[in-house]
Amino acid sequence: MKYADSVLDLIGNTPLVRLNSVAEGVQATVLAKLEYLNPGGSVKDRIAAALVDSAEKSGRLRPGGTIVEPTSGNTGVGLAMVAQARGYGMVCVTPDKVGEEKRDTLRAYGARVALVSSSVPPESEESYYGVSDALAREIEGGFKPDQFNNPAAPQAHYETTGPEIWRDTEGKITHLVAGAGTGGTVTGTGRYLKEVSADREGGPVTVIVADPEGSVYSGGSGKPYFVEGVGEDMWPANYDTEVPDEVHAVTDAEAFEMTRRLAKEEGLLVGGSSGMAVAGALKAAKTLPADAVVVVILPDSGRGYLGKVFNDEWMAERGFPVERGESLPRVPGLIATGAEDGGTPREAEAAARDSLRAAAAGSVSVPSAATVGEALDAAESAGRGGVVVGPEALPAALGEMRAVLAADDLRRALLAGTAERGTLLAEALADAVLDGAPVLVGTGQGPRVLAERLGENGVVALAEDGRVLGAVTSAEALPALRA
Ligand SMILES: Cc1ncc(COP(=O)(O)O)c(C=O)c1O
Repeated sequence: MKYADSVLDLIGNTPLVRLNSVAEGVQATVLAKLEYLNPGGSVKDRIAAALVDSAEKSGRLRPGGTIVEPTSGNTGVGLAMVAQARGYGMVCVTPDKVGEEKRDTLRAYGARVALVSSSVPPESEESYYGVSDALAREIEGGFKPDQFNNPAAPQAHYETTGPEIWRDTEGKITHLVAGAGTGGTVTGTGRYLKEVSADREGGPVTVIVADPEGSVYSGGSGKPYFVEGVGEDMWPANYDTEVPDEVHAVTDAEAFEMTRRLAKEEGLLVGGSSGMAVAGALKAAKTLPADAVVVVILPDSGRGYLGKVFNDEWMAERGFPVERGESLPRVPGLIATGAEDGGTPREAEAAARDSLRAAAAGSVSVPSAATVGEALDAAESAGRGGVVVGPEALPAALGEMRAVLAADDLRRALLAGTAERGTLLAEALADAVLDGAPVLVGTGQGPRVLAERLGENGVVALAEDGRVLGAVTSAEALPALRA
């Protein structure tokens, strides 16, 4: 009989598949390593068992103990699987930008889930690093594997991911492309592949990191982006800067477009970090000869992102382009043909985008720590009906925006005496206003959606490609609505 003793024995040995449609025009062979075929659904299964093994050996994890880890989901699933098999408790600390489906998945595996804010600086005790440290201390028998600093994580990739790629490409791999979160994957896999190919005639394997624009690895300052699980706002010990030869920044728009194409054209339903890695790999592969073999690691499945990158509404509101499918013929019994909520017809879309962009032109922003008077002055001197709160300048990453405010609302607060000019915005406005998600309209959604949202709110934030262009009120939107 052929069977595994435990689901843990099914981790690793993931297959390589050639990318065809999305790699059209590329001479090199581009192979995707499908890490979502691990039993927990991601590349992180590989490190989970290794982290627990090393903690048991060193005595840091004892029978009946509890594993506490800051994790965007995948490491939590892997660790929860191992915890289950070995009788440990599991607590996952997750940032609030992580999708609800991912948290439900962790709970399904029996983990307890703690939620922390994504917009807290990493050194703060309220960050997900700080909170996980505190919980590991407070819970009896608590142990934090610390995937960011624990050498057992890159070692797991050195011992499994790297050798599998070398074996399956028969030593022909020329380039490895991977995203880096903690850095474990690229450090361990890259280090192995470089060492094993060091004396080869064609030279060692070139290691390339694909990185979300804004992340520190590609020279950013840690500004927020939407792709989950990759990029960083600090430098973890497990990211060995000696391993990557090149780092390429990939925008959210490029990553998401490729993520959707991988599902539609290659039958690969994978997460945004996979789309990002493939976008980076194809940029690198464009100039490579036919005998080059590029292996790109696809870390997880798209199932955890159905409400985001695969949700047309979510994408459109953030100003990411959404390709529309053809509508179905009208036949009796069909409730929807697919054309009803199409927004603007394709041919009118470019013009609609332009008119919405024009409505946001001249928008201004103020920092979260500004006063009511400063916000009002900023709006008035720019001749605008509102301000964006949070970013230093516009356009900015949507994640930097804390609120959009209408100047009229600020004036009303002054008249009513509920605020003075020197009152901080944070004090003058209910927390719900500053921390509640502002109403978003993507430039591709067109004037009809803009009018609808302005009917319900005095001011909306206009977004394009995951960035906020400005705050728009009805008066500013009128020319676009008339166009
Ligand atoms: C979806 C996803 N992709 C990629 C990575 C990056 O892997 P590593 O942490 O090994 O750098 C992670 C890590 O959290 C992830 O969750």
